[in-house]
Amino acid sequence: MVDTTCRIGSVLFKNPVVMASGTFGFGREYAKFYDLNKLGGISGKGLTLKAKEGNEGLRVWETAAGMLNSVGLENPGIMGFLEEETPFWQQLDTVRIVNLGGGCLSDYEEGAEILENFSVRSLADERPAYDMIELNISCPNVKEGGMAYGIRTETAREVVRLVREATSLPLVVKLSPNAEDLTGMAAMCEEEGADGISLVNTFSAMKIDIHKRRSVFQNLYAGLSGPAIKPIALRMVHQVCKTVSIPVMGMGGISSAEDAIEFIMAGAETVQVGTHNFVSLRAGEELVEGISAFMRQEGIKSLQEIRGII
Ligand SMILES: Cc1cc2nc3c(=O)[nH]c(=O)nc-3n(C[C@H](O)[C@H](O)[C@H](O)COP(=O)(O)O)c2cc1C
Repeated sequence: MVDTTCRIGSVLFKNPVVMASGTFGFGREYAKFYDLNKLGGISGKGLTLKAKEGNEGLRVWETAAGMLNSVGLENPGIMGFLEEETPFWQQLDTVRIVNLGGGCLSDYEEGAEILENFSVRSLADERPAYDMIELNISCPNVKEGGMAYGIRTETAREVVRLVREATSLPLVVKLSPNAEDLTGMAAMCEEEGADGISLVNTFSAMKIDIHKRRSVFQNLYAGLSGPAIKPIALRMVHQVCKTVSIPVMGMGGISSAEDAIEFIMAGAETVQVGTHNFVSLRAGEELVEGISAFMRQEGIKSLQEIRGII
């Protein structure tokens, strides 16, 4: 038997494989293909205070080694999630993570308060429907001309502080690779009381339709994910792991157990898997099995033996 358990704050994961936000819905569709209880965890689609319809026009574009997306955070809103998805999440025996986004400070704060109150209420009579919040600070700041909160450390600090004050739920802050000072941003999250950090979100990127002579996306730029970003994401995860002492969820282009092991050797406590879910519908199950098989082959009893060895 190999020990694949991981911990972030008070939350225990049975293994390091967590499905990344926006690539797994709330898990229901994938439950047709394998037992979701095999997973370390699931991060649900990013939620905003009010439901959002998402962006007009093309939303995804396949690239040589990955994909571009401009989904625009289409989601049912926090109340829609609580009503429609929590009964399903309540039955799952895996770590359930609410990914929280927002367009302004008050949205983030109110969202965190609602999640806090609902979790306290559900605790009173039954198992809570979610275990932690992943705070997505890559959202555009609507009131400040659309620049993402996650670019400047001091702007992001306001969001992290408000959300930390609004909830006692374990809190992971998800960093954008487009941040001006990535390690400074990570250090700020630790200072403000985050229980962990997840990175990376997508890289700002572009695709031009040369016949129409314009970007294929209505918002001009889109987010790049998948194998194309893996070497850069790995370097960023390594740098952040060397900077902070709170646990890190590493992601960016993971598509095999070997990729996941690289992130753990770079220092990640857990990994997250996004785009690969579109390549293999059983990606989560395959990675969980692949990591255990690698550990058995190499005589590794616990992930602690290899975590952060680089
Ligand atoms: C279609 C799509 C939608 C996404 N939606 C979200 C989201 O709602 N919230 C979020 O924090 N990240 C979102 N992401 C980013 C992923 O969670 C992940 O950080 C990124 O894709 C890098 O990992 P990967 O290369 O394994 O996909 C999305 C990514 C994709 C491809």
